[in-house]
Amino acid sequence: MDYRKQLASLVAPVLELTEADVLRLLETPKDPKMGDIAFPTFQLAKTLRKAPPVIAAELAEKIGPVLKEAGYPVAEIQVVGAYINLYLDQQSVARDVIAAVLAQQEAYGNQNIGEGGKVTIDLSSPNIAKPFSMGHLRSTVIGNAIANIFEKLGYQPIRINHLGDWGTQFGKLIVAYKKWGSEEAVRENPIPELLRLYVKFHDEAKEDASLEDQGRAWFKKLEDGDEEAQQLWQWFRDESLKEFNKTYELMNIRFDSLHGEAFYNDKMDRPIRELQEKGLLVEDEGAQVVDLSELDMPPCLIRKSDGATLYATRDLAAALYRQDNYNFVKALYVVGGEQRLHFRQVFAVLEKMGYQWAKEMHHIPFGMMLKDGKKMSTRKGKVILLDEVLKQAIEDVQKVIAEKNPGLANAEEVAKQVGVGAVIFHDLKNYRLNDINFSLEDMLNFDGETGPYVQYTHARANSLLRRGGYEGVNGEIVIPEAALEGPEAWAVVTLLQNFPNVIKRAGEDFDPSVVGKYVIDLAQSFNKFYAHVRVLAEEEAVKTARLHLVAATAVVLREALRLLGLGAPKEM
Ligand code: ARG
Repeated sequence: MDYRKQLASLVAPVLELTEADVLRLLETPKDPKMGDIAFPTFQLAKTLRKAPPVIAAELAEKIGPVLKEAGYPVAEIQVVGAYINLYLDQQSVARDVIAAVLAQQEAYGNQNIGEGGKVTIDLSSPNIAKPFSMGHLRSTVIGNAIANIFEKLGYQPIRINHLGDWGTQFGKLIVAYKKWGSEEAVRENPIPELLRLYVKFHDEAKEDASLEDQGRAWFKKLEDGDEEAQQLWQWFRDESLKEFNKTYELMNIRFDSLHGEAFYNDKMDRPIRELQEKGLLVEDEGAQVVDLSELDMPPCLIRKSDGATLYATRDLAAALYRQDNYNFVKALYVVGGEQRLHFRQVFAVLEKMGYQWAKEMHHIPFGMMLKDGKKMSTRKGKVILLDEVLKQAIEDVQKVIAEKNPGLANAEEVAKQVGVGAVIFHDLKNYRLNDINFSLEDMLNFDGETGPYVQYTHARANSLLRRGGYEGVNGEIVIPEAALEGPEAWAVVTLLQNFPNVIKRAGEDFDPSVVGKYVIDLAQSFNKFYAHVRVLAEEEAVKTARLHLVAATAVVLREALRLLGLGAPKEM
């Protein structure tokens, strides 16, 4: 039911062009009064050796009968200068779109573009023993939404939480814990306590230079498998994960793999050996690097002079492991923009190693989260803790519910879905590369372009269905002539019709905000329709037709919210 595609396939033979060629020429008029699909003829002038307005007039004559013959729902064809403007038959389009949505329900918009191919998605990936930052929040919600979108496009997403669970900082942490820590304090409040120890280590190290050596020594022990070091490391990791899991649970996010950096400890030989065999490793001031100067990049550091491997080495090992293990068709890394160079280097090294699949690896960067227009800094203690943000959002929603809808059943669950949804949506409605300003007030504005606004619209649609005694589809869908007349209904219908394209574009651009903006449009258009058209007061056939449109809108709002990672309560 892609009317542009269908049109292109019918017009292509008339012009002796391919469907794809015609599809590229088609436009959507900015002003809906100019029709639903426009066909500008400028580009045909050269080959046809005629003036565009002449081409438009002749072509319009020819395609009229062709479209009629094929049963294409065209109401009118107008020639305006070099343009052919096509008006779709609103009644039959409405019927077809509504029927498709209501028959397919949440499967509406599913596409088999991916043919089951696996896509690994590296997301969230916080660092053990440190607070979950806003950057990690962005990675989590953007990555999760991209995974949902790819799943809808027929791929099999593999969500990997590549935990930052290895590095010299663990040696320092062990030293600090043994000197100033206690088991109780860590158990009670793991992340703040581990962070306190880490900060204390650095403060003390300014005075006492031997601390750094002790830290290095403990990290060496950890690497060599010393039992005490291993146990402490494992414990820090477990306690941190317990905390992170609370957040993931609130956000309803699950991972397919928690293999973090440490998982690759025994898999580092392979990239080094292969690089050596392929003659790609060169000495640079005692270190071993891959030269990338022909690509205008600094060399990629593989091994330091003391033999230690690096972040990049680990990502190379991880890529090789993942290709073996999953045979991915794409590998996505949802990581902040600061790591741009790192990923360009890793992908370039893999390409130099001869791995064609490296072309299908993508770094998906995103902008920063600002507070009052300024960068948030971890050092100055200005971090906003995600945990607290989510709790605060849920509390605020609880207050609104207590005031506006005190009798609401399962108010607690609804408050959770709306509060958490507000935080997620605030992120995903913005193009991911833009910086976003943190503001709980904006997130929770029920009248703004927010998660709660969309969720509320969805609940409103459901309440309308309940009040109208809507029973779903029985037999064929009938739309009486006057039932869905007017620009308000048509705007909703065309948006519903466009949903599959929106998902496709979001996937192509790795950009959930395409869906975020769409769902705001749909909610706004629906609310306009609702304000202009009396749904419940009409005679039975008209009422049923309008309720069908309401039901179809509810399905798509809910599914779009699900793709973004938000719940859609039926009442709120
Ligand atoms: N833990 C890292 C950080 O917080 C992000 C890891 C991203 N994933 C990767 N495969 N390098 O900066």
